[in-house]
Amino acid sequence: MSLGDTTMGELRELMARYPQPRSALLPMLHLVQSVEGSVTAEGIETCAELLGLSTAEVSGVATFYTMYKRRPMGRHHVGVCTNTLCAVMGGDAIFERLKDHLDVGNDETTEDGAVTLEHIECNAACDFAPVLTVNWEFMDNQTPESAVDLVDRLRAGETVHSTRGAEITSWREAERVLAGFEDGRADEGPSAGPASLAGLEIAAERGWQAPPLDTDQGTATAAATESPEAAAAEADTGRAEDETVAEESPADVEGGEAEEQS
Ligand code: FES
Repeated sequence: MSLGDTTMGELRELMARYPQPRSALLPMLHLVQSVEGSVTAEGIETCAELLGLSTAEVSGVATFYTMYKRRPMGRHHVGVCTNTLCAVMGGDAIFERLKDHLDVGNDETTEDGAVTLEHIECNAACDFAPVLTVNWEFMDNQTPESAVDLVDRLRAGETVHSTRGAEITSWREAERVLAGFEDGRADEGPSAGPASLAGLEIAAERGWQAPPLDTDQGTATAAATESPEAAAAEADTGRAEDETVAEESPADVEGGEAEEQS
């Protein structure tokens, strides 16, 4: 096996972090990727052996989640969000431009091994659409031109920063972090950008607060209102309307119609 003693020790370290060792499978697969550049057959066999699982079970996990790669990755993974909002905001155009510029298709790596291009689903960063990720770090509000400039700089080995501040490392280094081995960079850049915080700032300015929880349901019962008292009043009104509807059940309605017809 090409997974050396250090990696084997780290795989066991991950297993020891969980009450049930098999719970460590996801981070173990990230660690395998960080060492091998993909989830290799050897990696699958090793994880299965260590966890007492079948290789089919481990393969099932590795092929289910799209962040696990079965083909060798480039030094950088560039993901282009082509989900609905990003697509209409320019994500489709960015993806097409990068495919042409890099001369690769989806999930393919440039000849120099520098960039693997992949179209990705919504990254919950729609307020910065269209977004790219580089090794899972966000590049917000991109254009075809900025995306081309980005990949050119990555291929040239230049230092690149996420639009949120963090320095871009390599895909393998990022995978090691995802495995649970910190690189000390967690505090580089803000965790949420200005667009994500806009609603919070407006709420703070206007004194809005979250509605009270419905303790039966464990969920908020009304949309945010100007005060907790108003939210509670709205919730009460909603409950009263619900009760009115509930009193007239579908069975009652059908029964009434049946009586009218007879
Ligand atoms: S649609 Fe692209 S981040 Fe949500």
